[in-house]
Amino acid sequence: MQFETADLRENVYIRTFGCQMNEHDSENILRMLEDHAYRSTDDINEADLILLNTCSIREKPEHKVYSALGRLKKLKDKNPKLIIGVGGCVAQQEGEKLLKRVSYLDIVFGTHNIYKLPKLIEEVKKTNRRVCETTLYDTDAIFKAYSIPSKCKVKSYVTIMQGCDNYCSYCIVPYVRGKEMSRKSEDILKEVKRLSEMGIKEVTLLGQNVNSYGKGLDKEMTFYRLLHSINTIKGIKRIRFTTSHPKDLSDELISLFGEFDKLCEHIHLPVQSGSNSVLQAMKRGYTVEDYIEKVEKLKKVCPDISITSDIIVGFPGETEKDFEKTLELMRIVKFDGLFSFKYSDRVETKASRLHGKVDDCIKGKRLHILQAYQKLFTLAKNIELEGKEQEVLVEGRSKTNPERLTGRTRSNRVVNFEGDSAITGRIVPIRIKKAYLNSLKGEII
Ligand code: SAH
Ligand code: SF4
Ligand code: F3S
Repeated sequence: MQFETADLRENVYIRTFGCQMNEHDSENILRMLEDHAYRSTDDINEADLILLNTCSIREKPEHKVYSALGRLKKLKDKNPKLIIGVGGCVAQQEGEKLLKRVSYLDIVFGTHNIYKLPKLIEEVKKTNRRVCETTLYDTDAIFKAYSIPSKCKVKSYVTIMQGCDNYCSYCIVPYVRGKEMSRKSEDILKEVKRLSEMGIKEVTLLGQNVNSYGKGLDKEMTFYRLLHSINTIKGIKRIRFTTSHPKDLSDELISLFGEFDKLCEHIHLPVQSGSNSVLQAMKRGYTVEDYIEKVEKLKKVCPDISITSDIIVGFPGETEKDFEKTLELMRIVKFDGLFSFKYSDRVETKASRLHGKVDDCIKGKRLHILQAYQKLFTLAKNIELEGKEQEVLVEGRSKTNPERLTGRTRSNRVVNFEGDSAITGRIVPIRIKKAYLNSLKGEII
């Protein structure tokens, strides 16, 4: 007779807002908590611990956090033992203020304090006191939370740096993620090796500005060198990185797209605006001409490269002419994909103190035009692939249609196709049958 051992672990529910860095932080938080008697749940109603990993890059994501928090009050009223924690960039920005504003919140943990979370939870349980830990550090202790390998079988993020020193005039990241710090290359390589031993085929190296990796480390260490080392790790078949800052994208690095088979033909290269005066006010450190030159170089060494970007519309002082210049840049580069946003004032940033704020209605109109325009490019680029063969890393069953498998091309496009899930983790040739705006449909060859 078999006896089942009761699972005494408590349930943790985590909701993530914001960028890939936050997604990766959430993965690490879950893994860390699994080692501390928690198991993850997708059902918020059965959670003993609810965590929100937050983003404050614009007003909208920040508002979402507050409305999500508002909805948690009912759950806390029903179950006073429920512990609620807020981490990430809003937590870093607001600190104690969040505890004051939200009476039923138990834990606030900043972007450098993820690894302390199990201790903070213990403290709340033992003392019943509410805790806040948002110290920013300048040692590599902050990378502790990243030493835990992923459980995903196909692909994984790998953090290579934290923070940012660029202080683009609109951006809150340097204030909420701290100063730029590179993780030791030995630790990164160890992690990638461990991931490859676990069967991971693709790694995405993460940082706000990966091109400047190595600053503050051993003099010889650069992103170019780091990529060289990662390229030699057996088992890893694909390498990606994000985000690249155009001002730091060296010719040396561009040349790697023509040299390394493992380096996927995709670069996310945020341009932000097509007008030099706006770029200058944004303190981006490059001109439109510099940007176009880099794109041309990339296309020269790697004609199939897919280039995606970020654009902000309605930066303070942006005129109709400036905006037209952005559309003109889009015509020249023909981005494969684009994330676009209305400029949003952020506390502490220089841009928030600038004159010439653009009316929200005009920002909305510009965003609408820009997005409609980009759709044409995205779809046209996808249609170009119809009938062509693409190499796809199979990620498993599609979440939206479990009858199908899903994966990504080297250019980072989603492909859905029929097949046996036993091929998950394999790289297979797929013939593209139909192109849509956000995905492709294909057939295994
Ligand atoms: N490190 C990356 C981007 C980080 S934030 C880089 O240097 O490009 C992601 C994107 O959010 C930015 O590229 C920018 O387009 C947008 N963004 C940042 N601050 C913003 C603000 N205040 N208002 C609107 N969009 C913003
Ligand atoms: Fe923000 Fe600029 Fe740093 Fe990117 S490079 S995170 S936009 S300050
Ligand atoms: Fe948002 Fe913080 Fe990322 S502000 S975009 S979660 S670094």
